[in-house]
Amino acid sequence: MNATAGFDRVDLSGKSIIVTGGGSGMGRAAAQLIASRGASVTVVDLAEPGGNETVATITAAGGTAQFVRADITNEDDTAAMVEAAVSAYGSLDGAFNNAGIIGAGAPITEFSLADWNKTITINLTGVFVSMRAELRWMTEHGVKGSIVNTSSAAGVMAYPNLPAYVASKHGVVGLTKQVAVDYAAKGIRVNAVLPGSTMTPLAAESFADPELKAKAESAQPIGRLGEPEEIAEMAAWLLSDASSFVVGSAIAVDGGVTAA
Ligand SMILES: NC(=O)c1ccc[n+]([C@@H]2O[C@H](COP(=O)([O-])OP(=O)(O)OC[C@H]3O[C@@H](n4cnc5c(N)ncnc54)[C@H](O)[C@@H]3O)[C@@H](O)[C@H]2O)c1
Repeated sequence: MNATAGFDRVDLSGKSIIVTGGGSGMGRAAAQLIASRGASVTVVDLAEPGGNETVATITAAGGTAQFVRADITNEDDTAAMVEAAVSAYGSLDGAFNNAGIIGAGAPITEFSLADWNKTITINLTGVFVSMRAELRWMTEHGVKGSIVNTSSAAGVMAYPNLPAYVASKHGVVGLTKQVAVDYAAKGIRVNAVLPGSTMTPLAAESFADPELKAKAESAQPIGRLGEPEEIAEMAAWLLSDASSFVVGSAIAVDGGVTAA
């Protein structure tokens, strides 16, 4: 008997997958990787130029993708992104709910309610609204699949001066576990990926100061920042049938920062 019989490859052929925040950073890397593994990708972002550019790189490489402009905090937009995925590719088999912001930085005593609401709305409510739209369609149509949410190392540990970001990312871990439990028996797996500091446009903003960048690098035992492609690998695996027994997990891809 073939020693590998029964093992699934990380293969996404024939799947229709939504990637939010697909116009930049790890969302773009994930959309590209997922498409290269055979999925048809609906790239969702607020930013049109970035989203269109991601789609152009995928189609130039022979993959299948479309761009849908949507605000992930908006119920009508998220319903429309699901409809667009289904009408272009016939189904919705998975989603990488990844769009997010770092938001304002300050200790809580100097943190405005407006800044708090902004970060919580995009990072946590955005995942709630997106997942709800995806799961409504999937359950109504009896589709089994996989949903992956982007949390952060900040979903299980504190970072100084980021009360809303840290709270939002802890919230994404909690929401992921809660929804995973409700939908596992229906054949829909929900998990979270927890990136450490990773070199994307979002991080470039925070690490413009070389001292801060060096500090972030040395905080991660591996001694460097992550690359968006390294996060994309975990997202693609979680979206594939190769991770069929992984349910409600919060998986760190962080150069060791949460282990230290
Ligand atoms: N880069 C890091 O170091 C790091 C570490 C841990 C977690 N994360 C998380 O990873 C995710 C991706 O971050 P990134 O570093 O690739 O950032 P990025 O800024 O490069 O990409 C984020 C994308 O999300 C989009 N977006 C923001 N708000 C949106 C909204 N309301 N609706 C639709 N799209 C929206 C932006 O336009 C952008 O294209 C975020 O959730 C972030 O919090 C990043």
